[in-house]
Amino acid sequence: MENLEHQISIACEKFAGLVREQLTRAEAIKAQGEFTDYGSLRPLTIGFCGGDGIGPIIMAESRRILGSLLAGPLQKGEIIFRDIAGLTIENRILAGKAIPDDVLEELKGCPVILKGPTATPQKGDGRPNIESANVAMRKALDLFANVRPVKVADLGIDWTFFRENTEGAYAVGSKGFEISPELAVDFTMVTDEGCRRIIETAFDYAVKNGKTKVTAVTKANVIKTTDGKFLEIFHEIGAKYSDIQRDERYVDIMTANLIDDRVRKGFQVMVLPNLYGDIITDEAAQIQGGVGTAGSANIGKKYAMFEAIHGSADRMMAEGRGDYANPSSLLRAAAMLLAHVGLAQESRRLDRALDICLQEEKKLRITGDKSGATCRQFGDYIMETLAKVE
Ligand code: IPM
Ligand code: MG
Repeated sequence: MENLEHQISIACEKFAGLVREQLTRAEAIKAQGEFTDYGSLRPLTIGFCGGDGIGPIIMAESRRILGSLLAGPLQKGEIIFRDIAGLTIENRILAGKAIPDDVLEELKGCPVILKGPTATPQKGDGRPNIESANVAMRKALDLFANVRPVKVADLGIDWTFFRENTEGAYAVGSKGFEISPELAVDFTMVTDEGCRRIIETAFDYAVKNGKTKVTAVTKANVIKTTDGKFLEIFHEIGAKYSDIQRDERYVDIMTANLIDDRVRKGFQVMVLPNLYGDIITDEAAQIQGGVGTAGSANIGKKYAMFEAIHGSADRMMAEGRGDYANPSSLLRAAAMLLAHVGLAQESRRLDRALDICLQEEKKLRITGDKSGATCRQFGDYIMETLAKVE
């Protein structure tokens, strides 16, 4: 009994530490200024981070294609490419950190970053319990808005997801603990300002892009405090956007709605707490043709990072299929990067070429093994297509 009381008091101390850390984070969010205007930031350094597994393979293609699209500004020195090689699982294990200090410094030298997938150790797989590099980078650079578009013209689908990216179940996701062998706890935490900024970003996007509806996806009927707060703020902020319809769904029925042909056409902009956003955007990407086809932007006020939505596909590497990896998701992310830094025409050209190659002409198919094209062949196909696109 005494021992149990001791364990409880240790747990309370740990919890107090987490609360202090999160209150400090809440203050830091409030102290932030406005968004950097990337469109006028020149010279602009773009960092390239290959990551693990198939990452360096799909990154090589994406970098090559961006290099060709940006040949002019690169030559004039308006755009600078910087390669950041150190964000590998080996280095992270060696440093015992999700992002080694020197790599974080390099990243901070690049206001925009294109990042390949990084491997994440899982509890019990024999590797140290290091936080996911994605999650760590989103936190370290405060990339609070995870924007994930999914479009399938034939099905009348044109969705943009705004996933909160720094808090919720992820805020202290790697800092849960076992209080005793009988009891394990994890925590989910949101801040007032953290909810506000993602919800405002979603509504602003809706207004700027001629959308008429924003849907909040929560489980506020069960996760009452944090999801409840998210939903309350959603209605408070949404009320100021009188031309935009407010819609709310619970995440369970949302998974069903996304595969209901009648209902799903009606969704436009979705805003979600972190974990639901993670899950729902994989489902949505699958509807578009798989997680290999969707790009993802992680936007903050000072930095922005663009990445493939999928993982490092270690199994493909182990089975010798790495060269058949699909670069489309990273290329979609590259198109989002271009739009974000004010290169709208280049962004449209790349997206258009991807639409032609993936959804219209489909001269080459990527299957992930030798029954389909290699990553390099697909990259060539995109380059050829780009040459024909205005
Ligand atoms: C994503 C990924 C990451 C996440 C993983 C790799 C930690 O699934 O970007 O959606 O959960 O956010
Ligand atoms: Mg995910």
